[in-house]
Amino acid sequence: LASIEVDLSSIEVGQSITVQWRGKPVFVRRRTAAEVEEAKSVPVEILPDPIARNDNLSGDVPATDENRAAEGKEEWLVMVGICTHLGCVPKGQKVGDAKGDFGGWFCPCHGSHYDTAGRIRKGPAPQNLEVPVYSFLSDDRIKIG
Ligand code: FES
Repeated sequence: LASIEVDLSSIEVGQSITVQWRGKPVFVRRRTAAEVEEAKSVPVEILPDPIARNDNLSGDVPATDENRAAEGKEEWLVMVGICTHLGCVPKGQKVGDAKGDFGGWFCPCHGSHYDTAGRIRKGPAPQNLEVPVYSFLSDDRIKIG
């Protein structure tokens, strides 16, 4: 399918779901206020990949939290769940998963740690997790693609 719709109404704060889009896993996470604050507090200058990698924004805009999350809906993070190193699916979606040193996602294949905005912070992955094209259709429904 070129695009899919995802119902967000049953996702509670702190929970994540994984949906399939064009044969790829896509992570949808409803972040806690603490996770958002943590992501916002990180200076872009210290990021291994300072580019947002957000397909909704044109140009190589900086990887601030604002440029990674949905505009006006910062609790939501939508990302392709494929490690930018060699393509494993990072852990951090399920309850009890190791989330890595930065509280986001951890790729166990070769040890890449992503933060609560899906930005690479440590390990061999060269880029932040990709944010796909998506939009809000209503407060609790998004369209990906
Ligand atoms: Fe994720 Fe290598 S594929 S760290």
